[in-house]
Amino acid sequence: MHQALLIPEVLLEIFSHVTEEPSDSSTGVTSLPRKSLAALATICKAFYEPAMDLLWSEIDISESMLGCITRLHPLKYRSGRLWNWLADVRPLSVDEAHQFLRHSARVRSLIMLSTRLLHLFSDIPVILYDFPRLMSLTISTKYLNFLLSQTLHHHHLATVNEDLQSIVTRFAALERLSIITPDTIDAVSTARALSRISDVVRLCKQLVTLSSPLFDWAAWKHISNLSTLTRVDVGDTVTDATPPSPLERDITNFSPFSNVTTLSFLLYGPAYAITVMQHSQFPSLKEFKIDVRFISSPEAEQLFRALSKCKACEILQKIVVYSSHHEYNDPQTNSLSYFLCFTQLRTLDLACFDFCINLDDDILLEAASAWPHMRNLEIEDSRLHHSLITFRGIFTMLRLCPQLDTLRISIDTTTVDIDPDVEPVQHTSLRILELKTSGHQIPNAGTVARIIFSYLPRINGVGGFIQNEWDEVNMHLKSLKDAAPHATGAASNT
Ligand SMILES: *[C@@H]1O[C@H](CO)[C@@H](O)[C@H](O)[C@H]1NC(C)=O
Ligand SMILES: *[C@@H]1O[C@H](CO)[C@@H](O)[C@H](O)[C@H]1NC(C)=O
Repeated sequence: MHQALLIPEVLLEIFSHVTEEPSDSSTGVTSLPRKSLAALATICKAFYEPAMDLLWSEIDISESMLGCITRLHPLKYRSGRLWNWLADVRPLSVDEAHQFLRHSARVRSLIMLSTRLLHLFSDIPVILYDFPRLMSLTISTKYLNFLLSQTLHHHHLATVNEDLQSIVTRFAALERLSIITPDTIDAVSTARALSRISDVVRLCKQLVTLSSPLFDWAAWKHISNLSTLTRVDVGDTVTDATPPSPLERDITNFSPFSNVTTLSFLLYGPAYAITVMQHSQFPSLKEFKIDVRFISSPEAEQLFRALSKCKACEILQKIVVYSSHHEYNDPQTNSLSYFLCFTQLRTLDLACFDFCINLDDDILLEAASAWPHMRNLEIEDSRLHHSLITFRGIFTMLRLCPQLDTLRISIDTTTVDIDPDVEPVQHTSLRILELKTSGHQIPNAGTVARIIFSYLPRINGVGGFIQNEWDEVNMHLKSLKDAAPHATGAASNT
């Protein structure tokens, strides 16, 4: 054997390429990379440690793993993969748990989502769940409750007994924590989960990414001071009907989230997110996303104002705001003005039927001049049925944003206020163009097609809003493209 292969780091590097093929642990079929690693481990002594480390580096505690427990092996393979074969199975004994978790020292990433297995672990002391090298944990709130309630009872995590100390230490060292709410959780469990999650988040001292349902302000205050933290995703779609509202009367200001580049919220209403944004700064924020069921115009304004004050004006590149609930109200102010300070913006996606951004050519031009790097601009305009944006507005705006790739916006097509015979200034970046009209066929379809053909060489067709109002324009556009010299056609297909 070559001497290089005696260096564990070299072996680890070579073996790590075996795992690059994605494995699918949900099917219960041992994937090719896992089989290869297992084979490598048996080749010789030198291969054993690095191959086993990789083989066990990520573990999903799922049914497929139970085959390695002698008592369960025949049951599992006799019943195939029926849903309820586990229901009558007696919990694991301590010996069986040792067998099951014998490689826990190698595990770097642990997934505990399959709550159908929970009862199997009810007799095992928590101390057994010791994964000394764990960096990444993906866990269902049910598992979390279960793990912590075993010995915790009414104690606060700050005053844990020895049995729990190992868990506390594990959380402190975690770099990635992802907590997932199962679909079936009820209101009481939700409230209990909120306090458990908050406790757990406060134990983490080195988090890099955190994805979790809502947690309380003390936990926010704690993570705001973690210099390792780069990404926070908060909320879920499950607890939306009556969102736990951990608003406390006087929240002191958080520390700045010095290294957080990505922040996202998935909520029923925006109040929780507004509170977070109002109480801290995000000087490194590059991406902000919020997805809510409902947002009113005043709330949208509050949110946007808070966002514009979070010290990320020169940094923020992506803003996405979704709201699915539809309620027409006519905003009095121009909310877009809060975004003008974001000079590095690449993506602005505002899809909110109910708070409505009022757009017209002037507002659009002012905004476009503030965003020279814009790539994706998508705005749901409240005035869908009487848009004030004209062709001239759109083409002027395109000149201000030379890198624009995708544009989705509404338009008033009644007049074609562009002269198709003026020498065109081509925009060579735009690939996707969706213009929502009031639904009528476009008058002057031939002229519009000619303008698009000469100004926007990469556009092969215009998309609309469900209706096929652009069909005629697109037909004309196609014949122009077909008739054009080959070069143009080739450019438009790339
Ligand atoms: C923030 O963390 C530093 C150590 O990283 C610590 O010294 C400081 O007291 C913390 N500040 C707050 C407000 O918790
Ligand atoms: C901030 O995040 C980057 C990764 O985006 C990381 O390399 C760096 O170490 C982090 N800073 C601190 C102080 O942890």
